Amino acid sequence: MPVITCIDDLKRLYKRRAPKMFYDYCESGSWTEQTFAENTSDFSKLRLRQRVAVDMTNRSIATTMAGQDVAMPVALAPVGLTGMQRADGEIKAARAAESFGVPFTLSTMSICSIEDVAAHTRKPFWFQLYTMKDQDYLKRLIQRAKDAKCSALVITLDLQVLGQRHMDLKNGLSAPPKLTAKSLADLATRWSWGLEMLGTKRRDMGNVVGHVKGVTDPSSLMAWTAEQFDPQLDWSKIAQIKEMWGGKVILKGILDPEDAKMAAKVGCDAIVVSNHGGRQLDGALSSIRMLDPILQAVGGETEVFLDSGIRSGQDVLKAMAMGASGTMIGRAFVYGLGAMGEEGVRKALEVLAKEMDVSMALCGHRDINEVGRDVLMIPEDFSGRWAA
Ligand SMILES: Cc1cc2nc3c(=O)[nH]c(=O)nc-3n(C[C@H](O)[C@H](O)[C@H](O)COP(=O)(O)O)c2cc1C
Repeated sequence: MPVITCIDDLKRLYKRRAPKMFYDYCESGSWTEQTFAENTSDFSKLRLRQRVAVDMTNRSIATTMAGQDVAMPVALAPVGLTGMQRADGEIKAARAAESFGVPFTLSTMSICSIEDVAAHTRKPFWFQLYTMKDQDYLKRLIQRAKDAKCSALVITLDLQVLGQRHMDLKNGLSAPPKLTAKSLADLATRWSWGLEMLGTKRRDMGNVVGHVKGVTDPSSLMAWTAEQFDPQLDWSKIAQIKEMWGGKVILKGILDPEDAKMAAKVGCDAIVVSNHGGRQLDGALSSIRMLDPILQAVGGETEVFLDSGIRSGQDVLKAMAMGASGTMIGRAFVYGLGAMGEEGVRKALEVLAKEMDVSMALCGHRDINEVGRDVLMIPEDFSGRWAA
């Protein structure tokens, strides 16, 4: 058993074990990958203030997110094709999140279906909705999430059209992978991945295949999804979906203070400041840089979570100190899953929790809910002074 001390250790193992096509799918940003890179490098520009000679006993990193008790302010973000990173990936990640005590979000584009994940977990999870053109499918999807007792609907707003990730085109990304000479040569070196995949029936997009007429094989599936994202989405449609759902709503993919105000006006329970992990608008600012202007714009009217770029517990601490009320992680848990399955996701969560807890103590705090800007050293102009 390798000694895992940080998220990067899991990433190295993941790279060795997952097929190249799926590693690249996870590890890419759009176009030049500027935003993808800055999501992580901007976290390192924020510095933490060391304090000493304060009582550091009885610490707690527990809090609430969207009204739900969580062991730490970190939810698993929706990640499409998680079940291709490792067989039955969504079920494994959901179980790890459940046992750790943090929310799991199932993507519309998952391999394991809503019903399947519900049947293999005990606690409610969150469901992420892509707004689709096919209204009938959309309504049925929402009803399926209600029937599965999902405790929040996470509506993703930043993917009305798809940002280009070069490697997905070069690799001919598909789920399941098409068997070509290139993909077979790669799969031959990932035999543990292949053996597990042969042992499961879950190899298609479980929320789509069997639920849409005419979608039966990987190529019809890819064609259907590519033209289904709704380019006409607007705030009135978001309000309608919220009405249809009737429960907790989290709006994900907000990167601008004006949009944050609109989201708060719709009456959501939380927003996620996110640029989709640098996979959509290349050239946009990092999420952590946009957090402060967005917090100021919403002024406490809704909870504000942040994702994109979190790779350590120190990153979570910085986001919380800046004023977020929770965070989400995408790649950090996928690395764990691809490296070591369910155990690896748990390991990723343990790593983040330990880093956050000890760093919080070294900043002189005992309760994550009381950590504020006093622990941060923020460079002047961190949020930028950009000419309009
Ligand atoms: C491989 C991959 C697939 C993703 N699929 C989805 C998805 O299906 N729905 C969604 O709302 N966001 C999706 N995202 C974005 C994540 O939910 C999240 O915003 C992002 O991963 C956060 O950045 P991080 O990976 O740096 O933590 C995906 C991200 C990755 C890396």
